[in-house]
Formats: sequence, structure tokens, C-alpha cells
Amino acid sequence: MKITIDTQLCSGHARCAATAPELFELDDSGYAVPLDGEVPAGREKEAREGAWACPERAITVE
Ligand code: F3S
Repeated sequence: MKITIDTQLCSGHARCAATAPELFELDDSGYAVPLDGEVPAGREKEAREGAWACPERAITVE
């Protein structure tokens, strides 16, 4: 499972990092970057919740 951030859509709402801080962090400008594109085993639900938390639908987990 892999996390992808659409940097064109990300507007810096930071809800991804608030919801799943072990999978997402914010860069110096406040935009999301996945800590590691690969989702560690057992963290799939957290990754999906982080994606759903984004109002811009900038996160894809597949
Ligand atoms: Fe960006 Fe959405 Fe997170 S707008 S900072 S990917 S909640």
C-alpha cells in the first residue's frame, strides 16, 4: 500500500498530519509530505483515515 500526495491539490489544511501523524508530516510551508510513501503493515486503516481527513482529496492510498 502506498500514499501519494497531489501537491497541486494540497492546500495545507494539515488534517492528514493531525489524523495520522506517524504517516504524514508537513513541509516548511505547511504542505503534506508522506513520511515514507509505503504504508507499514498494520497502518492501512490509519493511512485511509488520513486520506479521508483531507478536504481537498489530495491524498491517494492504494
Ligand atoms: Fe494538504 Fe490535505 Fe493534508 S490539504 S496538508 S493533504 S489535509
